[in-house]
Amino acid sequence: MEKLVSLTKRRGFIFPGSEIYEGIGGIYDLGPLGVELANNIKKVWWKKIVQERDDVVGLDSSILMNKEVWQTSGHINSFTDPLIECRNCHTRFREDTLPKSSNCPTCGKNDWTNSRMFNLMFKTHIGPVQDVGSETFLRPETAQGIFVNFGNIVDTMRVKIPFGIAQIGKGFRNEITIGNFLFRVREFEMMELEYFTYPAQAEKDFEYWQNERMKWHEELGLSKKNLRFREHASGERAHYAARSVDIEYNWPFMGWGELEGIANRTDYDLKAHSEASGKDLSYFDEATKKRIIPYVIEPSVGVGRAMLAVLIDSYTEEKAPTAEKGASETRVVLKLNPKLAPIKASILPLVKDEKLIKIAKGIYKELKENWFVQYDEAGSVGRRYRRQDEAGTPYCITVDFDSLKDSAITVRDRDSMKQDRIKIKEVPDYIKNKI
Ligand code: GAP
Repeated sequence: MEKLVSLTKRRGFIFPGSEIYEGIGGIYDLGPLGVELANNIKKVWWKKIVQERDDVVGLDSSILMNKEVWQTSGHINSFTDPLIECRNCHTRFREDTLPKSSNCPTCGKNDWTNSRMFNLMFKTHIGPVQDVGSETFLRPETAQGIFVNFGNIVDTMRVKIPFGIAQIGKGFRNEITIGNFLFRVREFEMMELEYFTYPAQAEKDFEYWQNERMKWHEELGLSKKNLRFREHASGERAHYAARSVDIEYNWPFMGWGELEGIANRTDYDLKAHSEASGKDLSYFDEATKKRIIPYVIEPSVGVGRAMLAVLIDSYTEEKAPTAEKGASETRVVLKLNPKLAPIKASILPLVKDEKLIKIAKGIYKELKENWFVQYDEAGSVGRRYRRQDEAGTPYCITVDFDSLKDSAITVRDRDSMKQDRIKIKEVPDYIKNKI
């Protein structure tokens, strides 16, 4: 993990938040390559969940909502973790991650307060008066924005159940304990689908989504041996869930742990919002001519957590030959799925020669119209390859002196390090076919 964290900083993927002020706990910023990787993850999720389907529509609801939403959803009363404090050094921990019999990990004493339930929502105020009446919260999940818009979508989009509403957006949780890099943070993006279905069909749809979501993680490139399902025991489930299954990843810092959660939220949320708001959120089913409150199946995954799994799974160290004959060195390479790679290709003139630079910049300009590509002329070509390996760039396109005669370039494959010679005019199609 130390090597990965250092690589992600060195190559501009992830920076600690507010770093020049010694940081802020559990907050990270995405650098230029990180934002591309995150965007690509969101793009493949949206494509699979919304664009390619006829039964899912998208939404972008607000982070700030009426406080009543959180009262009704149960988050004000139940979105809590048990907190204990060391009486000696006043460090606070989540009781469920630390047995009371153990000593304080900070000072070594064993003198704990009783546990109390700590609400994980960040409180804020709307408008200039800061009193209880103006209080609200930063959303801890995007799902509630979907539930309160359920009526609007049914009225405007001619959807028929089963159908889904998908949303990608920020969520905020004042986690008691943070750590393990992007795994548990206080501000993160989530990709959530609420799939509304007939109560009698909910169990079948749950299983369908469970399998669909596992396939998605495998398609991202995560190795099967690092993925598994885990069913929640009844005492473990969120307050709204009748059934929950996690897709777990085998994290190097903690072993198996949640990557994505799939929950059967039943009619809990729509029913509660109907009752509290007085607005009827039932659905008129043409087939049975009855009004029903649909059940909801919810697959939900954090962008940062998916990104961390992808980075861990693609980080590779291997022996590679150097420019010196017979010698080898350790090559660090992020073997990212080309669809996710921040930089799709790097265009390199072999040396800083005006004629080579002109051709390389021409290729760069053309590819830039469709993909995020990079032009790089700094340092030896071997060093430039290593830099791109660490950034996970799948293709390096090198312009050499032969290019002046044969109008061709070499394309180096990141993983096999094999080189193809192809005509310059074929480069865009070559990249298109590979990505
Ligand atoms: N609406 C459902 C929901 O909020 P969750 O299991 O609490 O369910 C969904 O969160 C996903 O969000 C998790 O599977 C995880 O990928 C991500 N996530 C949750 N808390 C997180 C945190 N503190 N830091 C990073 N990601 C988090």
